[in-house]
Amino acid sequence: MQRDLQNLRKNYSIGALVEDNLPQDPYDLFEEWFNEAKSHMSVDEVNAMSLTTLGVDGYPKSRIVLLKEVENGCFIFYSNYGSEKGEIYGTTFQGFNTFFLACIRKTDHY
Ligand SMILES: Cc1cc2nc3c(=O)[nH]c(=O)nc-3n(C[C@H](O)[C@H](O)[C@H](O)COP(=O)(O)O)c2cc1C
Repeated sequence: MQRDLQNLRKNYSIGALVEDNLPQDPYDLFEEWFNEAKSHMSVDEVNAMSLTTLGVDGYPKSRIVLLKEVENGCFIFYSNYGSEKGEIYGTTFQGFNTFFLACIRKTDHY
């Protein structure tokens, strides 16, 4: 099956990232963007983020989790130790999370 999805593109020039306008602390920027996204009534699960870790098989693995707190530069989510991310948590947990804030046309990586 072949599908032409090229026309689904939107204009992502809104809210350009201008270095001079950025706060010193990247977490302040996160707070600002997150609150902006939260104010959009249409957004479901605004705290959903894509969490990527190196899987037990050595390959990167991404999944969606919900951000529950941000404390001292740590993004906190809840999970269970039986999951793959729970297993690697006990050893060296190195993760990468991305927020896709579609409503404000921005992507945030931490
Ligand atoms: C909207 C959404 C939110 C989710 N939130 C969480 C969460 O907060 N914690 C969690 O462990 N899994 C959450 N999940 C399930 C994970 O995406 C994942 O499937 C599960 O945790 C197993 O992942 P793992 O085996 O790679 O560790 C969520 C899934 C969706 C679709």
